[in-house]
This record gives sequence, structure tokens and C-alpha cells, in this order.
Amino acid sequence: MITTIKDLRRWSRQQHDSQKQIALVPTMGALHDGHLSLVKTANQYSDTVLVSIFVNPIQFGVNEDFHQYPRSLENDLRLLQTVGSPEVFAPDVAEMYSAGFDVSVHVGGVSQPFEGKIRPTHFDGVATVVLKLFLASGADIAFFGQKDFQQVCVVRKMVTDLNVPVEIVVCPIIREPDGLAMSSRNRYLSKTQRSQAIVLSQSLMLAEKMITCDNIRDAETVREKIRSKIETAPDMKIDYIAIADPKTLHELTTINSDAIILLAAKIGTTRLIDNLLITTTMS
Ligand code: PAF
Repeated sequence: MITTIKDLRRWSRQQHDSQKQIALVPTMGALHDGHLSLVKTANQYSDTVLVSIFVNPIQFGVNEDFHQYPRSLENDLRLLQTVGSPEVFAPDVAEMYSAGFDVSVHVGGVSQPFEGKIRPTHFDGVATVVLKLFLASGADIAFFGQKDFQQVCVVRKMVTDLNVPVEIVVCPIIREPDGLAMSSRNRYLSKTQRSQAIVLSQSLMLAEKMITCDNIRDAETVREKIRSKIETAPDMKIDYIAIADPKTLHELTTINSDAIILLAAKIGTTRLIDNLLITTTMS
């Protein structure tokens, strides 16, 4: 396991000197099958996979769960042995943010709506740490989950606009058997909350059926259906339900092209997000 940027750079130089491509899977640890599927996909692209494990303080707001965020390094390392034992970079906070650190990467446009409205400093923190990880690791290709769809848009925009030479690969959402999208935060849920949480994915399935089978194109009608399904869970408080263009994240009033449905809701103190990409060609 590598813990310093100096050692990471040395490792990265060795890989590139041996003509190896570095495939990076950035994570905050508390690994689950969603992360492991990213590593498995990365294994198909390169023999040299690097998993970063770093709970990034600057992407948490002041009242968010940075201190409570699950940390389980030993278990994470054990899980990674089941998917080919990739190299691991697990720095501490002082290694990533030395005293006086005073740089922030701000991506406009796609970082503004939805999560950006509710968590105004979140994507600056994500873009900053992801760029630092790209630079320190010399990654050639990096793997992100579609679960954080808006994060992927932000990272892609950063890579494009700053000409960062890293290819971005987006991997599908991995779900529990009942449909709940896997997330490190699912472990916060009580039994009752866990049983209510499935309304999120169920509402997305309903919306997909409305759009693709029943040919309903009015975004507000679809949003209302999603809302009423989520509200069947008594403890679920909706943050937003958005139907947007998957490239620009501009909200759609009529669904006559590809669309991304994005949901965020709180149950107790736990915030859950989910999404569904609708790619059916519309007639
Ligand atoms: O998706 C995550 O786990 C984090 O936002 C990331 C990309 C590792 C940056 O801290």
C-alpha cells in the first residue's frame, strides 16, 4: 500500500517505464460490490490497477457526515484481494492537503444544479481531489460509477476543459437484489429505513415504463408519478426529482431525446441518490 504522493509518483514512473497503462479507481473506501465492479472493469483495461482510498474532507459541507463517514481500511484491503489485489493509494489528510493548501478547482455549468444547489462546495472538493489524484498517479484511464451521475459530468468537463490526458470510463450502477443502488451510506440505514429506501429505484422503474412503454413525454407528469411513489415511504424527504439532458443537465419539459432522471432524498439523517438514464430512441 502506498501512502505518500512521492512514493505514488515513483510507482507511477516505474509502471510507465515498463510501458504499462495505469487504470485508476478513485474511492473513499467503505468498499462494496459497486466499487469492486469498477475494479473488475478496470482489470479488463489494464494489468496495472490503482485504487485510491481517501475520505476527502473538502467535498463534505460543514454539517455533513465527514467524521461519521464509514472507514474500514482493513476490510477494504481484504475485499480488494478478491478482485486481483490492485495497488492501493491510501494517504492521510495531511499528505493530500498540506498546511496552507489554498487551491480549488471549480467547474461551472454542470456542477450548478441539483447536488450543486444543495451542497454548494461539494463539486469543487470533488474536482480538486480528483485532479490531484490524476496528477499524482499519472493515471491513463479512470473509472467512475454512474450512481454519481452529476459527479461524472463534472469530472468529464474538468478533463475536457483542462486537457487532462485521462480517459474517463463510466460503469453501471450496481444494485441490491431489491433494486436499492449500492452506496457506502446504505450502512447508516435502520431496518425500517432500509425497507423504505427501495421506493427510489421503484419510482425510477415506474418512470421508465411511463416513458418507454406508455409514451408519456411530459416531464412534469413523470416527475409527479415519481414523487407520489417516493411519498409512499413515510420517512422519505425528497430533495429533488429532476429530468434533464444527460450532457448539459438542463432540465427538460418534454422528453423527446435521451434523458437522465436524477433523484435525491433523505431518510432520517441519511441522504440517498439514484438515477436512471433513458436512452430509448423516441419516435
Ligand atoms: O465518488 C467518490 O467516492 C468520491 O467523490 C471520489 C470520486 C473518490 C472523490 O473523492
